[in-house]
Amino acid sequence: MNFELKHLDLIAAADEKADVLLLLLPKDYKGGKDELSTLMTTAIKSGDLETAAGKTLSMYRPLQVAATRLVLAVTDGSARSTRSAVLAAIAAAKSPQLKKMLVCFAAPALDEAVRAAVHAVADATYSFTTTKSKPQARTLAKTTIGVVNAPDVAQSFERAVAIVAGVEFAKEWANRPANHATPQHLGEAALALAKHPKISCEVLGPKEVAKLGMGSFMAVAQGSDQPLRFIVLRYSGASKNKAPSVLVGKGITFDSGGISIKPAAEMDEMKFDMSGAASVLGTFKTLSLLKPAVNVVGLIPACENLINGRAVKPGDVVTSMSGQTIEILNTDAEGRLVLCDALTYAERFKPSAVVDIATLTGACVVALGAVRSGMFSPNDALANSLADAGERAQDLCWRLPLDDEYAEGLKSHFADVANIGGRAGGAITAAKFLQRFADKFPWAHLDIAGSAWKSGANKGATGRPVGLLVEYLLAQTSTK
Ligand code: BES
Ligand code: MN
Ligand code: ZN
Repeated sequence: MNFELKHLDLIAAADEKADVLLLLLPKDYKGGKDELSTLMTTAIKSGDLETAAGKTLSMYRPLQVAATRLVLAVTDGSARSTRSAVLAAIAAAKSPQLKKMLVCFAAPALDEAVRAAVHAVADATYSFTTTKSKPQARTLAKTTIGVVNAPDVAQSFERAVAIVAGVEFAKEWANRPANHATPQHLGEAALALAKHPKISCEVLGPKEVAKLGMGSFMAVAQGSDQPLRFIVLRYSGASKNKAPSVLVGKGITFDSGGISIKPAAEMDEMKFDMSGAASVLGTFKTLSLLKPAVNVVGLIPACENLINGRAVKPGDVVTSMSGQTIEILNTDAEGRLVLCDALTYAERFKPSAVVDIATLTGACVVALGAVRSGMFSPNDALANSLADAGERAQDLCWRLPLDDEYAEGLKSHFADVANIGGRAGGAITAAKFLQRFADKFPWAHLDIAGSAWKSGANKGATGRPVGLLVEYLLAQTSTK
């Protein structure tokens, strides 16, 4: 889908051809004497245009404008109200055949509102088609954002468009069923990204991973006939001596739970257990478009968590790449088992920071629901930059604690550490497990179990937290 930013006042907006013109106006709108301004002020005065969030007034072929449909909505200029106005307007336009849309801000627009408009248009018109025999692709081909202050918001607009491309790349891979998104397929997707001049990629298979001594990762993968992949992506936008940020994405392409098998209900959703990996791929997609002056490494341990005669069993003890031995008391706590070896691998890059992204625990869904991702870090500066990046991207997270007392339950009789710690504080004990493998660099962990996909009627990947990650990386351009 194509986005453009255009400097438009209401007189010019009235002359733009489009299938729908959405006009966003502030409550106390006082326009000029042009026809659209008069229409809008009377609509508010008469009460026909309600000023509450999500309320719209729609017209078909109004004489004043060149667009086929006109939708009016009141906003307070915030991201949230812009989003709800755009969603309501797309619903009100009621045409499945929208090809061209014009979103116009009657008053000078804030950066956050422009971003929200771009994201909302993309979200509302997204369609997954890869595995449909008669795909209903997105009809919307072009969206123009019309503002009276284009130069002020141009940078935010450009970022939002690039982030949407990354989000949609992440959605595509996360939405693909597990038989269409195997570890091998993920490796191929990463290699395809490396066609970009600043991106390179290496995909390791079972032999190389065994040589590295990733016994923990291998233990998860051994229950499946699909061979594991360890993906190493590099984006080089800054000089070689600048330490990279490393992103580590959990790439469990299907999580059955293994021998500690999951209940049947909603198990299909465990195809989304590679959403962390998808967010790393999506972030690289956005980097390829924005080309910022940063160095980034993306690591993806990818495998299935299945059950065959060789599957890892509760009680098995394995040796991780770090040398620490792990007692696998529950084969369903597999995410941390693949991530710990990837974290050890990350040491070789002498990173400025390592952020892992994982659909790690059901406990995090209980704690934070779908609104905010869980965020953990012993490093205040890193935690604050991730929280700020989330705010800027409107892709929120919330910091949870890492007190050492939470690690008590991870003690094992037969190994250095156990892979589960009991039900209480489950998102935190998982983070405490990972922390044992992340003592050589500033580290943060994002638990996206609640935010990475939606269940129910709107089932599908959200593409989060690509926005947060991109904003975090862009902020590194200004620091040494
Ligand atoms: N992928 C799941 C976590 C998950 C569950 C994400 C539900 C989203 C929705 C993870 O591998 C898992 O199974 N975690 C277990 C850990 C437990 C065995 C300590 C969980 O959360 O139940
Ligand atoms: Mn699991
Ligand atoms: Zn999992």
